[in-house]
Amino acid sequence: MAISISSLILHCVWVIMGVLTVRVVVGESEVPKAKSRAFFVFGDSLVDNGNNNFLATTARADSPPYGIDYPTHRPTGRFSNGLNIPDLISQHIGSEATMPYLSPMLTGPKLFIGANFASAGVGILNDTGIQFVNIIRIWEQLANFKQYQERVSTMIGAEQTKKLVNQGLVLITLGGNDFVNNYYLVPYSYRSREFSLPAYVNYLLAEYQRILQRLYDLGARRVIVTGTGPLGCVPAELGLRSRDGQCAVELQRAAGMFNPQMVQMLDVLNSKIGNHVFIAANAQEMHMDFITNPQGYGFVSSKVACCGQGPYNGLGLCTLASNLCPNRDLYAFWDAFHPSEKANKLIVKQIMAGSNKYMYPMNLSTIMALDSTQN
Ligand SMILES: *[C@@H]1O[C@H](CO)[C@@H](O)[C@H](O)[C@H]1NC(C)=O
Ligand SMILES: *[C@@H]1O[C@H](CO)[C@@H](O)[C@H](O)[C@H]1NC(C)=O
Repeated sequence: MAISISSLILHCVWVIMGVLTVRVVVGESEVPKAKSRAFFVFGDSLVDNGNNNFLATTARADSPPYGIDYPTHRPTGRFSNGLNIPDLISQHIGSEATMPYLSPMLTGPKLFIGANFASAGVGILNDTGIQFVNIIRIWEQLANFKQYQERVSTMIGAEQTKKLVNQGLVLITLGGNDFVNNYYLVPYSYRSREFSLPAYVNYLLAEYQRILQRLYDLGARRVIVTGTGPLGCVPAELGLRSRDGQCAVELQRAAGMFNPQMVQMLDVLNSKIGNHVFIAANAQEMHMDFITNPQGYGFVSSKVACCGQGPYNGLGLCTLASNLCPNRDLYAFWDAFHPSEKANKLIVKQIMAGSNKYMYPMNLSTIMALDSTQN
């Protein structure tokens, strides 16, 4: 009797310990075996998914009709009628959309999905977008990335955090605002009196290199770097500067100088590091395909924005008082500056599977295949 009771107790202890052991093991393996790699997003309004909603700034997309085609049909802070580029990349890598870093709901295991640090209006330079007052400049976005890692460290430890970050995918989109909202913002801007265009491009790229080096030092190991789009062809610039619907020459010259030199800068950085950490996405080529041949991609127009007013619907903000097209999929541009969800899908298609003309030295499908064999 005594023996059977004690063996019963022993048995219970084993069962309890067994349960505990199983739970501990599950708890540990959950972290590194997250469903898919973490995703971290940095940059401007092309990739901001709501951080600016939490800031006192005019650079925001938190009122209708923004988000009209988003699953909730409500504005989120994305500068799109629906999904933006990071959302579509998240879908392709099989993960949930990242949350804005400033969202109070980004806590606990949601942090393992990654985070979006981007802020509409920012550029490479600290003085870009000063008219928007309160935006998260790129160096502050990087400081937030460091803080993110400290938060995750308290949950899973420094080593697992490093692994999460090293194995993560990073997207950074900068540069457009340094032209549109700085150098060319007003005639005789401070920067345009200080620098000729070629000298300004050099200056921007030297600073961009420092930013990317910092991203690497913070643990980023796969970074997609998008160049600028065709700055002179967006409805805002057509409305402001174009008489006959031709892309604005000076801004096209700027994009045409910046983009190829950015690829060279990434090459220098990669050879210094000794690895293909930085991948160039040629956003200009991706856009030019449907800008030069809108009908070929199912658009009725690549010049007129779906939402806006004035010539090309390119002047002012997109609001409830603006013209709004009934079918957003027929327009390459949603508002005066930002592609529609349909155009974003075409862009992400090239990011995933495009040739070297679009993705250099390789596309995201190749990166995914390469990285899955290494981990
Ligand atoms: C921008 O600000 C950051 C820190 O606030 C600084 O490290 C960086 O050097 C500045 N960039 C330029 C070009 O002055
Ligand atoms: C891009 O991805 C596709 C697969 O989707 C592949 O066949 C192709 O060779 C890749 N191109 C480059 C340049 O990596």
